[in-house]
Amino acid sequence: MKYTDYGLVNTRAMFHDAITRNFAVPAFNIYNMETLTSVLDAAHITNSPVILAVSESALKYMGGDMLMGMIWGAKISPNDNIALHLDHGGSFDACKRAIHLGFSSVMIDASRMPFDENIKLTKQVVEFAHDHNVTVEAELGTLAGIEDENTYGTTSTYTDPNDVEKFVNATGIDSLAIAIGTSHGAYKRKRDDQELRFDILEDVAKRLPEFPLVLHGASNIPQKLVTTINEFGGKILGARGIDEQQLRRATKMNVCKINLDSDLRLGFIAATRKSLADKPENFNPREFLSLARQTMTQTCVDEIKHIMGSDNKINQP
Ligand code: G3H
Ligand code: 13P
Ligand code: ZN
Repeated sequence: MKYTDYGLVNTRAMFHDAITRNFAVPAFNIYNMETLTSVLDAAHITNSPVILAVSESALKYMGGDMLMGMIWGAKISPNDNIALHLDHGGSFDACKRAIHLGFSSVMIDASRMPFDENIKLTKQVVEFAHDHNVTVEAELGTLAGIEDENTYGTTSTYTDPNDVEKFVNATGIDSLAIAIGTSHGAYKRKRDDQELRFDILEDVAKRLPEFPLVLHGASNIPQKLVTTINEFGGKILGARGIDEQQLRRATKMNVCKINLDSDLRLGFIAATRKSLADKPENFNPREFLSLARQTMTQTCVDEIKHIMGSDNKINQP
């Protein structure tokens, strides 16, 4: 089945709108029914476009047919402006498989390869994806922290603005992820005064006017969730995310997709730990799962309103 049969849209129109109106579309990672429904509920509450991001490992965890069954069951309408996106696709085959399953957008992440190999693989994915009217994101520069979400990442390289025009023109991609100091996981900054590299972002945006840029590893790591987790037996000490104001500033500089995974993980775990501690006699999983859903929905709603600025920005055809 094609993605349009599921009521999904690709990212082209939503990014065009986001660039023009200075907001970012949130990409929330999903991996089960609870995360899927939380994100969709938040999208409906706020009238926001959203991107459902599924990593290769999340796809393996759910199984492609199970995921698409849930997407079908969610009864999404094209008027909802919902895209289904492969996050950090590692190969041409992974992207092709996702497109055949019904994804409307894919990321080919060849950012760790030499520049010319990144171009070659990305171009191959773009040709296949565009034949299916699927949009493609690729990355230049590498982010730290994807391997281990509980430590400060050490291996990162910022995007070199000198590379971006050649890369975009040679590959034909629809959006570009750049590395300006964000990192995956819950340990993004050692100090509160650490700033993203807005000088790099400004240079890239100048060289690629009106071109959609993407930030990975951009979770805000809400401290109230961290505190709840630690209070109820967890141990994620010193977790610190990307400052809300800095993310807002990025949305005014052509960043039109912001990826958040860790924040929903924190919401899920905070609600679950608290619920189980508050009611030790409970052994009905639906009780803590319902609270986890409420907390994740609220987290998405807050971030849509205070970070993305995408509330009430649904683009009616
Ligand atoms: O950026 C990566 C996401 O956080 C996905 O992580 O592969 O553990 O699902 P995952
Ligand atoms: P966080 O770990 O900051 O949530 O990043 C998620 C991400 O970039 C998914 O691709
Ligand atoms: Zn990422």
